[in-house]
Amino acid sequence: MTTHTAKSREQFDDEIEALHLRGQWRFDEDVQRISKGAPPSGEPFLWKWTAIRNVLLEACDVMPDSLRQRRNVSFVNPGLRTPNATSTITAGVQLVTPGELAWGHRHTMGAIRFGIEGDERLYTVVDGDVVPLAANDLVLTPSWTWHDHHNEMDRNGAWLDVLDVPLLMAIDQARFQPLGEMAQQQNAHNVNLSLRYAWRDVEPVLRGYGSAPASPYDDVVLEYANPVDGGPTLPTIGCYLQLLRGGFEGQTHHHSSAAIYHVVEGAGVTVCGDVELHWSAHDSFVVPSWMPHLHVNASKRDDAILFSATDRPLLEALKLYREDPPGPGVRPAPIFPGNFSREEA
Ligand SMILES: [Fe+2]
Ligand SMILES: [Fe+2]
Repeated sequence: MTTHTAKSREQFDDEIEALHLRGQWRFDEDVQRISKGAPPSGEPFLWKWTAIRNVLLEACDVMPDSLRQRRNVSFVNPGLRTPNATSTITAGVQLVTPGELAWGHRHTMGAIRFGIEGDERLYTVVDGDVVPLAANDLVLTPSWTWHDHHNEMDRNGAWLDVLDVPLLMAIDQARFQPLGEMAQQQNAHNVNLSLRYAWRDVEPVLRGYGSAPASPYDDVVLEYANPVDGGPTLPTIGCYLQLLRGGFEGQTHHHSSAAIYHVVEGAGVTVCGDVELHWSAHDSFVVPSWMPHLHVNASKRDDAILFSATDRPLLEALKLYREDPPGPGVRPAPIFPGNFSREEA
């Protein structure tokens, strides 16, 4: 039997809130919001390389030596409530001055680094192995691996960092541990090729596609493949490289994954929703999840190259990856680290 009281709905909601309970009827607004599909998270946004670099150079003067390990500026998406690039990925640029050492530590967050300024004398030590991080190299620092960074050049070194920090924070899995010493003991066998995708190996593969037909959305696109199983670079972050040949104008599409892009070379525009992101070398920009976008190479003659890191592997593991128009179900061609093919791995 139903009893009626003079209580208002609001009064009732307040009363049960004091009991740490909440009626599902109060989530109606959220239900309405997602009934039209998941909304894009964050805004399309672009960070110019000149601005990033100037900030990092000024940070060399402003920040005390004790904070040099942290001389990294993160990209803050203006459309998110947390200081991250996307809901699952944080990205930024780190600068290390000549002779500097960024002290050793490890964390459960997985990281990838893409070289911006540097040669073989800029390197990361991962679990004791030296891994060079030259310009346009991709280097993996999987979850819970020790790492410290060294610059033995006579100029500044800089790289793009991409980590799964917001995801691990959201699922209560974030953990950090300092090494306790400045740097790890370096292993005698020295260079580890399985964590490094050297640009000198990758570039000829990418440019080797010539005039072959490719993706109508991304033109020639390659996926950096994990050397162990051929899967994504990290369980949470996939990395891609795409060549937009001269005159390329991509078609509009969208997918459930969000991406942070870094411009390796060339200039162009990515139209994302109703925002035009005009990019040139070393700029970084974000394409939020679900947002329609297309890429255009501004040059009719010269190539443009984009590196990107996305949460696609995470969504695929959860069976939540979607793209529209539907893709052909074929993964981009894989590229493996250390100048060896999958067959030889
Ligand atoms: Fe780290
Ligand atoms: Fe896309």
